[in-house]
Amino acid sequence: MPVTAFTLLKKDHRAVEKLFAQIEKLDAGSATRKQQLFKQLKSELEIHARLEEALLYPLLKEADKTHKMTLESFEEHHLIEKLLIELSTQPITEEWDAKLTVLKENVEHHVKEEEEDLFPSAQKVLDRETLVNLGKQIQLEKKKLEATIMVAA
Ligand SMILES: [Fe+2]
Ligand SMILES: [Fe+2]
Repeated sequence: MPVTAFTLLKKDHRAVEKLFAQIEKLDAGSATRKQQLFKQLKSELEIHARLEEALLYPLLKEADKTHKMTLESFEEHHLIEKLLIELSTQPITEEWDAKLTVLKENVEHHVKEEEEDLFPSAQKVLDRETLVNLGKQIQLEKKKLEATIMVAA
């Protein structure tokens, strides 16, 4: 049975949730570890958003049923990216922790909307073959993006 796009995207969502939980568990003295885990979280989220924006959202933006929802999703990605950039340029303080919580809330909201509204609607809008092809493209592109990011890091 081929892997569909949504199985892969949901797997990313779970990985991101795990990273948030790991960061939140650290005490105030573990700034270096926090920094490391945040770097990982940032690249996970950025790769994931790029995959959705390049491969999935354009298809959903075209369909009437998912048009508005998709525009909203693009905006949510934009907001998440802004928070990620701020967090990556600021020292780890109490304020940083507060910002990370806001990021987490934004990501949770976005993931909930995708999994409860956008993906189920997408399954109605896109046919099985498109979904399977999308899954393959996502797998391929993810490997490429991961390699690029690892070289850059
Ligand atoms: Fe997503
Ligand atoms: Fe998304």
